[in-house]
Amino acid sequence: MSDTTRQTVLLHVNGREHALDIEPRMSLLDVLRDELHLTASKLGCNRGASGACTVLVEGERVNACLALAVQFDGHAITTLEGVAQDGHLHPPQAAFVAHDGFQCGYCTPGQICSAIGMAREFRRHLPSALAADLAAPRLRMPPSPAGASRRWVCRRRERHRACSSS
Ligand code: FES
Repeated sequence: MSDTTRQTVLLHVNGREHALDIEPRMSLLDVLRDELHLTASKLGCNRGASGACTVLVEGERVNACLALAVQFDGHAITTLEGVAQDGHLHPPQAAFVAHDGFQCGYCTPGQICSAIGMAREFRRHLPSALAADLAAPRLRMPPSPAGASRRWVCRRRERHRACSSS
């Protein structure tokens, strides 16, 4: 009799194949951390808000806390442990080191994976792409009756001007 509470999945993680017998309800994050012992990706909010759990699936950013591992049977997954190549840091990793961009460091793996995914989106001209200049006139703000988002963007513009003039 087969065990219907478990499912076999084949995950390609950081260039290595892993055939795993897991519960179908396990999140991708739990599988990475608890089954594969890849602990760079962190559990922050567990609701898709913090991004601490961000990994790349086929190069796309995924919040691993919200995804089921069985969704990615046969897919290539990259965690922070897999972004460096041939002993060289990936450019966003190197930038975090060079500019001391860690704060407490808890979310850093997710931030770096997200930065890598976002740069890829930029190259593909996807709408979530980085803007070259936050003060650029083509930046469109959503309508806001309270003007909250407008104030937020204005604060960013002020900071940007301060950075540009120093
Ligand atoms: S833990 Fe916060 S988005 Fe996944």
